[in-house]
Amino acid sequence: MKQISTRVHNLQPSPTVALTDKTRVLKSQGLDIISFGAGEPDFATPSHITEAAVASLRSGFTHYVSSRGVSDLLDAIASHLRSANGISIEPTKEIIVTAGSKIAIYMSLMGLLDPGDEVLVLDPAWVSFDPMIRLASGTPVHVALDWRKNFRLEEKVIEAHVSPSTKAIILNSPNNPTGQMLSLDELKIIEKLANKHDFYIISDEIYDRITYDGAENISPASLPGLKPRTLTTNGFSKAYAMTGWRLGFVAGSQELISQILRVQQHVVTCATSFVQAAGVAALNGPQEPLEDMMVEYRKRRAFIVDALNDMPGVTCPVPAGAFYVFPRFEGLSLSSQELANRLLEESLVATTPGSAFGQAGEGHLRLSFACSLEDIETGMARMQKFLSRENH
Ligand SMILES: Cc1ncc(COP(=O)(O)O)c(C=O)c1O
Repeated sequence: MKQISTRVHNLQPSPTVALTDKTRVLKSQGLDIISFGAGEPDFATPSHITEAAVASLRSGFTHYVSSRGVSDLLDAIASHLRSANGISIEPTKEIIVTAGSKIAIYMSLMGLLDPGDEVLVLDPAWVSFDPMIRLASGTPVHVALDWRKNFRLEEKVIEAHVSPSTKAIILNSPNNPTGQMLSLDELKIIEKLANKHDFYIISDEIYDRITYDGAENISPASLPGLKPRTLTTNGFSKAYAMTGWRLGFVAGSQELISQILRVQQHVVTCATSFVQAAGVAALNGPQEPLEDMMVEYRKRRAFIVDALNDMPGVTCPVPAGAFYVFPRFEGLSLSSQELANRLLEESLVATTPGSAFGQAGEGHLRLSFACSLEDIETGMARMQKFLSRENH
């Protein structure tokens, strides 16, 4: 038979999904695994959101809807983007509701790229950016950020990777895996380079509601010099504990959005009708559930950062946003993959190796604190024991 797609065949399987699968197998064998692998809130979807979807279902809202999205949700997203992100957007022309933000990013790439176009990815980076760029027939160009400089953006480092084929850069703030957030100065660097070299920005802001100590997400599209060339993607998964609902959106100029709409119309048609009613309830309804989740995340963050920094050879920066820590492990002659494997097999603690996020992440592990404080305490005790043994 003929060769099946090499483009797909050559994609690396998702390392985070592989870890989740391995953890599940070990758990099913009865092993008491503490998992720091999860990329999703461990809270239930707030009930008023679920109720809105159920009511919508019962009312028979079960057919195709507009490819752009239901108008109530488009309005709610536009007013949210204005008040929370400082982006003023025309709801009927400049937003598409999507089945999660992942596909919003993918469709944005499909809308922007021609074969051979390059996209800058700032490492350490979320595991799906690289494969999505390849699937959209682009070439990922990885820019390694330096942990010694706290993974901060530097103009000369980024510019060294720009070529005439550079079509776009993907930004992700708050960042998965580092928890860092881009400062205004860093966005000014992007603004300068994007205008000088004429490339687009895809800004993945999925963690923008999960920030600490008053840190505020600055959306690239809130800068007038970046707005025309920026696609902002976001969704409901993290802020409202709605990972399984698959609801997100992309916002940008009418020209870019109408391009992406062509992809949505042919590939997805529309995001699920009654799930969009849940989205309206999430944005327009009470925000206390999110605040309650933040109270828990704050406690967990404080505990896990302190516990890791107390371990021999470990340095753990305090994340400004999201629910991950990205500690560095010094003095071990193990790669991050070996360290993660041994922690799982010997101490029954599941973590994600930093190398899963690009070579710039080597020497680190990513730990999600979207799990109970009790689990964090047990997991930290196990890691402490493991490292005390290893460092002697
Ligand atoms: C950085 C980043 N972007 C996007 C997503 C996808 O979110 P969604 O559930 O909206 O597709 C995730 C999920 O883990 C993520 O970590």
